Amino acid sequence: PSSIKDAYGALGMNAGVAIDTREVGNDAAKQVVLKNFNQITAENDMKPEYWYNDAHEFSMPENAKTLLHFAADNGLAVYGHVLAWHSQTPDWFFQADENCADQNPTAGVIEGCALASKDQMLERERAHIENVAKAIADEFGKFGSDTNPIKAFDVVNETINDGDSPETNGMRNSLWYQITGEDYIDKSFEYANQYLNGEYAEPGVTHPVTLFINDYNTDSAGKLGRYQSLIKRLVERNVPFDGIGHQMHIQLTTSTANVENALETMSAFGKKQAITELDVATGTPVTQAKLVEQGQFYYKMNQIIKEQQEKHHQFFSVSVWGVNDGRSWRNSEGAPLLFNDEYQAKPAYTGFIGDK
Ligand code: XIL
Repeated sequence: PSSIKDAYGALGMNAGVAIDTREVGNDAAKQVVLKNFNQITAENDMKPEYWYNDAHEFSMPENAKTLLHFAADNGLAVYGHVLAWHSQTPDWFFQADENCADQNPTAGVIEGCALASKDQMLERERAHIENVAKAIADEFGKFGSDTNPIKAFDVVNETINDGDSPETNGMRNSLWYQITGEDYIDKSFEYANQYLNGEYAEPGVTHPVTLFINDYNTDSAGKLGRYQSLIKRLVERNVPFDGIGHQMHIQLTTSTANVENALETMSAFGKKQAITELDVATGTPVTQAKLVEQGQFYYKMNQIIKEQQEKHHQFFSVSVWGVNDGRSWRNSEGAPLLFNDEYQAKPAYTGFIGDK
């Protein structure tokens, strides 16, 4: 294959990359994106906090608009990220009186402010999801129309606790969870389905947006088990979700057998799956030997994805979390991506397209 998208397109899945407006404004980065990928995720620009100004008024973030137009103009799919998350969400979202808090997005408890009630939170989330759907449909046409590039969305992100926590049934004890229990998950999917795949969907197009739950460290047995338990409950409750996301922020010391086990375990649900945020840190210092080892690691990832796809045909997409090392949120952990800062393909690239 002569590009990442050829390699994964041949397997029947999209090849994605996280970008922000810096890639769109940089010719070299843009060329790498267009040559190699047929899907983008907004690394930050579509997260809840960016849709609100200081007066808490809703509008589409300019940067999100730029990214979505870039995708629409170049025939790239967009994997939306993200509707409900404990992080990068305005503080006021969680308060009974939204004027008790400013926009500071720490999503924490604020002294002197009472937390929102469950009804208030669910209504805020409903309105948020409707507004996002409507703003995108107003600018790009309805979901499923030729001009709207959104094909998938992370509806909820990072809902599972990192450690064992029977007291929260394995769930992250976020303000979302403290206020609504698991209802915010069920409701977010119901709203996303209602708006993205219903009210704001192109008439005659069935279910244009694949709705994902997403989480990290699914290669660790404990986290995988807790994620699996939640997904069982969602299935039992008939929650309208379509796909299971694995972020895969991993490193050379990660066991690829555990990566394979995460995908194999989740395949039993018969849903779509996606690797949503892949990066593989080498550790520091970054040496030539480490970069070669990283190439082998990415090759192994390619082989696992291929085998899983041949077996289960569930992959929606596989996405890397950034174009080049210098732009990676994990660059300090060692050159995690496929291209270096001169936009040259690393051994990681060669491995990831499936060449040894
Ligand atoms: C990260 C971005 O890459 C950073 O630029 C930002 O400062 C923090 O968020 N899980 C997710 C992503 O779902 O949204 C996170 O992205 C990485 C972890």
